[in-house]
Amino acid sequence: MFGFNYYTPTKVVFGKGTENEVADLVKEFGGKKVLVHYGGGSVVRSGLLKRVTDKLEEAGIPYVTLGGAVPNPHLGLVYEGIELCKKEGVDFLLGVGGGSAIDSAKAIGYGVANEGDVWDFYDYKRKATGCLPLGVILTIAATGSEMSDSSVITKEEGLVKRGYSSDYARPKFAIMNPELTMTLPDYQTACGCTDIMMHTMERYFTNGGNMEITDALAEGLLRTVKKNALILNENPMDYDARAEVMWAGSLAHNGLTGCGNDGGDWMTHKLEHELGGLYDVAHGAGLAAIWGSWARYVYKDCLPRFKKFAINVMDVEEVGSDEEIALCGIEAMEEFYRTIHMPTNLRELGVKPTEEELALMAKKCAIGVGGEKGSAKVLNEEAMLAIFKASM
Ligand code: NZQ
Ligand code: ZN
Repeated sequence: MFGFNYYTPTKVVFGKGTENEVADLVKEFGGKKVLVHYGGGSVVRSGLLKRVTDKLEEAGIPYVTLGGAVPNPHLGLVYEGIELCKKEGVDFLLGVGGGSAIDSAKAIGYGVANEGDVWDFYDYKRKATGCLPLGVILTIAATGSEMSDSSVITKEEGLVKRGYSSDYARPKFAIMNPELTMTLPDYQTACGCTDIMMHTMERYFTNGGNMEITDALAEGLLRTVKKNALILNENPMDYDARAEVMWAGSLAHNGLTGCGNDGGDWMTHKLEHELGGLYDVAHGAGLAAIWGSWARYVYKDCLPRFKKFAINVMDVEEVGSDEEIALCGIEAMEEFYRTIHMPTNLRELGVKPTEEELALMAKKCAIGVGGEKGSAKVLNEEAMLAIFKASM
């Protein structure tokens, strides 16, 4: 068991109609002028943006808006947001949408609170010393960005997708109304469930530490999301299933399911970030497409955890050798992905990299992790390439 820091300062306001509390929350956390930052327009179409800005107006809180954060959000818009905040004297950020709008807001927050080029943080050149305070209204259960310390940005030049994490960017509050996720396309709901499970699986498939309580929380979370993803697959309007998945999304990535473990493996995410950067695929779908190949490459080096996962999460019978049980668990997970219409390889994901592109992704991935990374198994560039090839 390893020691750990667990820091989750985000005030969570959860349930129907909670977006109506936005102005009070902005005031509570000292916001005097707000940048409302959102994505490609779903919040305009659903009427959420108008309801939120009406609430700010009623409360006499000045604001400016900036939309356009795309999935795999771009650095260019972050620069635009930083300029806008400086020009308008914005002191509080409100991300309304999914991980992309929230991450873009976090990056804007770093850019306003620190001198120099904000990309330096994502390029691991230096560390941020602050971030503008940020609140969130979540419209998709997926990344956990509403409570996490992370943000992931894509630099258009070279299509480099990188994450940066610091406690400064943990949101002050997160408004979570499960009803707001009911307008999601089914594909995005499934992508979200995949991402949520993967955030816990990254922390679960480790070769160090492992606390019983953490494992119990992780396995419970995985079983709950699996069950409710299947319910939403049949009935997307099921409020309780939406709520279970939404809260699971936050708990999966606020650190809870990693306490005592070896910091997590994170290689499925790192490999997916290359796919997201190059092909602009939905993050959850990219994870599903790569996970099976990753799992088959590493499972022998992390056998007790794969066996435990198979039995406790995927309901595999404890019959046969440990390796057989572990492989049945991997197959059961892939079957689950197929049931919720997620891809299990790159072809199903809809991308067809050339040999050169596969090599480039492996190279960029290795550079991004400083050479090698992983806890279930440490992967170098050669191993990354082998996994990409196996996922074809
Ligand atoms: O842009 P709009 O028009 O809002 O549409 C979005 C987008 O097309 C749509 N959407 C969201 N809520 C909706 C809705 N459509 C209808 N009704 C709603 N209620 O869904 C699409 C996906 O949205 P996006 O914000 O991109 O999804 P997600 O939350 O999955 O975020 C993905 C990004 O977050 C990063 C990913 O790499 C990716 O760039 N991640 C961030 C993490 C973090 N900050 O902690 C961790 C993750 O591992 C991940 O890497
Ligand atoms: Zn993720």
